[in-house]
Amino acid sequence: MNIAVFASGNGSNFEAIVQAGAEVKLLVCDKPGAYALERAESHGIQSFVFQPKNFASKADYEQEIIAKLNECEIDLIVLAGYMRLIGPVLLKAYEGRIINIHPSLLPAFPGLDAIGQAMNAGVKVSGVTVHFVDEGMDTGPIIAQEPVKIEDGDTLDEVTKKIQQVEHQLYPAIVQRVIEDLKRGVRR
Ligand code: GRF
Repeated sequence: MNIAVFASGNGSNFEAIVQAGAEVKLLVCDKPGAYALERAESHGIQSFVFQPKNFASKADYEQEIIAKLNECEIDLIVLAGYMRLIGPVLLKAYEGRIINIHPSLLPAFPGLDAIGQAMNAGVKVSGVTVHFVDEGMDTGPIIAQEPVKIEDGDTLDEVTKKIQQVEHQLYPAIVQRVIEDLKRGVRR
């Protein structure tokens, strides 16, 4: 089972998944210069970088992505800080085989700045969600969740660190579990 990770920025989840020994064959990145690309290079993992503005439509660039995924014989797409919605073209090609991680207990606080949203709301517990991807923003069937406590006086940085630590444990484990399910032919 071959994995493609999609990332737009730092790529710390990409790194955690690679370090855990997953079969990551490809990094797909929509931001030339993203640090995730350097991480891929240092692990000898191939990258596919594209700029959406160079394409007439999402369908057009998703076709290019699919060509690359086919070339690398990718079975599972793992979104890790990929800051774009997946369109119908890619969703159809990889139905039930795209997962995402989000830094809140969904369905609370979807979208951008989920940790800031949780802190502004004053919740005492937030966390991390891994879910299958559908056409919505941070919607789709939930696979796993892990709570993270927000203590009085915690700064945004401190909560972000706690959330990331949980992400880096949870995501590699869930990727492994989803791969096992795919191998056994379990369909969601
Ligand atoms: C993570 O917090 C993830 O939950 C969210 O974007 C962030 C990506 O971080 N979707 P990184 O690029 O993996 O360091």
